[in-house]
Amino acid sequence: MENRPQFGSRIGFIMAAAGSAIGLGNIWRFPAVAYENGGGAMFIPYLVALMTAGIPLLIMEIAIGHKHRASPPVAFGRMRRGFVPLGWWHVIVTFFITMYYSTVIAWALSYVWFSLNLGWGDKPEAFFHGYLQLADAPGQIGGLVPGVVIPLAIVWLGVLIVVHRGVKKGIERAAKIMMPMLCVLFAVLVVRALTLEGAAEGLNAFFKPNWDMIRDSKVWVAAYTQIFFSLSLAHAIMICYGSYLDRKEDVAGNAFIVGFANSGFELLAGIGVFAALGFMAVQQGVGVHDVVSGGTGLAFVAFPQIINQLPALNELFGVLFFMSLVLAGVTSMIGQVESIVQGLQEKFRITRGMAVLFGGGLTMLASLLFATRDGRHLVNVVDYFVNSYGVTLIGLAEVIAVAWIAKRLRELQDHINAVSGIRIGAWWRTCFGIITPFVLGYMAIDSIRANLVETYGGYDAWFVGVFGWGAAAAALAISVIFAAIPDRKPEIRTAESAEVSS
Ligand code: ALA
Repeated sequence: MENRPQFGSRIGFIMAAAGSAIGLGNIWRFPAVAYENGGGAMFIPYLVALMTAGIPLLIMEIAIGHKHRASPPVAFGRMRRGFVPLGWWHVIVTFFITMYYSTVIAWALSYVWFSLNLGWGDKPEAFFHGYLQLADAPGQIGGLVPGVVIPLAIVWLGVLIVVHRGVKKGIERAAKIMMPMLCVLFAVLVVRALTLEGAAEGLNAFFKPNWDMIRDSKVWVAAYTQIFFSLSLAHAIMICYGSYLDRKEDVAGNAFIVGFANSGFELLAGIGVFAALGFMAVQQGVGVHDVVSGGTGLAFVAFPQIINQLPALNELFGVLFFMSLVLAGVTSMIGQVESIVQGLQEKFRITRGMAVLFGGGLTMLASLLFATRDGRHLVNVVDYFVNSYGVTLIGLAEVIAVAWIAKRLRELQDHINAVSGIRIGAWWRTCFGIITPFVLGYMAIDSIRANLVETYGGYDAWFVGVFGWGAAAAALAISVIFAAIPDRKPEIRTAESAEVSS
């Protein structure tokens, strides 16, 4: 008997999972990461990371949800009682990510509005800082910024309505509408970018390999980190969505489709962004390296500049670009909020409505911290630390827990092969048994060392300590606390008792 929610179709699951993977990270993060890490030469580490960690872990996370039909805390708890905090770590890190992620979507929504009359004028950077009422120095939280709070409330309202409507009527339906829209909008943008003067220079800068850099471990670390963020791994989402996949549905095949769709979109974004940057460089008579920026600077400063310089239909392309960001972001945020809701529902045995009200409501309130005058600084620091010491460390812990401690790879492999068109075997087990733990372990040590030697981003040590290290540590501490609170009705059975009762 099964009365849990479920996706209505295979395509519904693929759209929702690809929607969660394809997000702000594909458009703003990947192009700059690739450029800074050797351009064309980075594609080798990127492909290795995709095939040794990205797709194998995606298969594993979907399979864990699919097999145990539960949220990460319950699913990991069924493997071993001691793994419950690991499950909560996924959910709580997603809670932290959602706080700032929703704010960046709110900025993009404001920019859809500003595009209508190119409201940023000829000084996009000053306009961006004015819009955010950016504090003079990091740490001066100041008051709430109404121009950010209003779009943030709109974004939250939309997402909470979708999640409240449930998996089939809410998440699946929204993904089936928004993902095709995103693809069409983005395709129009890329075609336009490719037909601009200077596009070839931009693409040349993007793809030209710097082979020396491939020997630098930093490039490999960047490739693995990008794959983790981009595929929404260790975010609880893939386990959550896997648990809503029909029992007889293909696991490995779906994971390959989602993984390749995400990378395909990422590559397309890289091509579009660099073609546009090439155009800007030619307009300004400078080299492409002079105009490259990543993150919020790329989306909210460089792009308005590019839009200003287009020969025609500037407003329209502004709306298309920022609407793409909103759509990509919202489909990811829906997965984030659903993971939080699912975790709370299973823990406290409450209705979806209550979980949306309390879980969604609490995350929404917490996101207001990023709608203050310190928003941009906080986004930079929390994003970096929660990903470096949340997402990648969870990935490492997850692989060690499943492959080395609980030794469940064979069992999961049998489960996957029983339902999947693509059979997995030695490749998949080798990735988990050896390659992924080794690479992720190295990454963790290397990045902790680097961040202890030099304070991140030139910020004050106290600021990074409280909001960077502090956020990452808080996520872990809250997970342990949540795991220690008794479940309202025991949901977790050990694997042994599950086998006995099934
Ligand atoms: N995977 C999501 C992104 O790329 C979080 O933005």
